Amino acid sequence: MPATIVLGTQWGDEGKGKAVDYLADRMDFVVRYQGGNNAGHTIIAEGRELKLNLVPSGILLPHITNVIADGVVVDPRVLLRELDELGASGLDVSGLRLSLNAHLIMPYHLELEKVTQRYLGKNALGTTKRGIGPAYADRAARVGIRVQDLYDEKILREKLDVVLWEKNRVLTKVYNQLPVQAEQIVEDYLGYAERLRSHVADTGRLLHDALNAGKNVMLEGAQGVMLDLDHGTYPFVTSSTPVAGYALASAGFGPQHVERVIGITKAYVTRVGSGPFPTEALDADGDRMGDRGHEFGTTTGRKRRCGWFDANVLRYAARLNGLTELILTKLDVLSGFETLKICVGYRAGGDTYDDVPPNQTLFHEAEPVWEEVPGWGDELGDVRSFEDLPKEAQAYVRFLEELGGVRISVVGVGPAREQSLPL
Ligand code: IMP
Repeated sequence: MPATIVLGTQWGDEGKGKAVDYLADRMDFVVRYQGGNNAGHTIIAEGRELKLNLVPSGILLPHITNVIADGVVVDPRVLLRELDELGASGLDVSGLRLSLNAHLIMPYHLELEKVTQRYLGKNALGTTKRGIGPAYADRAARVGIRVQDLYDEKILREKLDVVLWEKNRVLTKVYNQLPVQAEQIVEDYLGYAERLRSHVADTGRLLHDALNAGKNVMLEGAQGVMLDLDHGTYPFVTSSTPVAGYALASAGFGPQHVERVIGITKAYVTRVGSGPFPTEALDADGDRMGDRGHEFGTTTGRKRRCGWFDANVLRYAARLNGLTELILTKLDVLSGFETLKICVGYRAGGDTYDDVPPNQTLFHEAEPVWEEVPGWGDELGDVRSFEDLPKEAQAYVRFLEELGGVRISVVGVGPAREQSLPL
């Protein structure tokens, strides 16, 4: 049963890229299963810093086949730019495989997202403006354009005609914008298709054959559980499904292959964009986490909102995904606090909750029940074994493990590969 699912347990930005890179040694395939270039990973390995938006995190290791699966929305211009940049830094990207079934982000998705988010004013979601929501909406409405459509010009033109009839009316008549030109899109996208030709594949079949041959496959999620379209803080969510169940739907194989479901959890919590965040620290403590943790988006550069660890969110993630273990990241960021707050429960509507309450009103008014634990003064970046961490840091890790009910297998104390301490 050689498949492993790795996903974020908070609002994204848990440090999944580094965790996947750490685990990737033992993998043969790394598969990105949802989202698009709204995600951003920074990986530091062998002295190199790489920023990835679409390409899976296994790209650094030459023995790995990296796959972009059906459930990802792909902006081909961005993908090609990323491949060019990775190639220029000396990496061999020729093995990347892109599903023929993946949907494409089109120029009108970007245009429409810009104007619709502006129109929402104070109700705007604070999206990354990469066209993610509009592309997934067209996919569900069955007017999306897929990678395979690029290899049949007649079909591409027909599908574009259908979709642009409506999009251009909305752009011009509702939002007073200029229409997009079909001819320009066809020319650009056929050009992208040519350059991507050697990468496109029947990735479902590829993964099926790999699993049957006993290969190790890692399914890499983007964003996090609390941004899940169904299970997150709707409508302040992304338009895809980061939870573990969707990894299989996207990659195209069954659950019998899955052996491990690894949740990536940051030692504190961050969130980008609008929406409820019960443990947010709107004070100097939150600023300190943001500064020490460099909490600015890889994709948009936006400052992330910061707050204390939330065990309710962790228990919710464990329940939704069947987590078999956790990787705890960025423990080093918490050095220097005299005491650390941990949310161990919520009070809302006269009740108490040990994970996420069943409706949005209760979640919006949820008041954390805090426990305070002693902090530690020492910087952790040079520590190379769990036993060498200050005893307060070890106790913090063990307490999170106990609260979440899931074993922590690795603790991160910095961005480099060697700063991952196995337990
Ligand atoms: P969208 O995914 O661009 O539609 O944005 C929807 C929401 O998800 C916004 O609040 C974004 O800030 C958030 N979001 C999307 N991708 C990420 C991510 O990789 N990390 C953190 N937040 C994200």
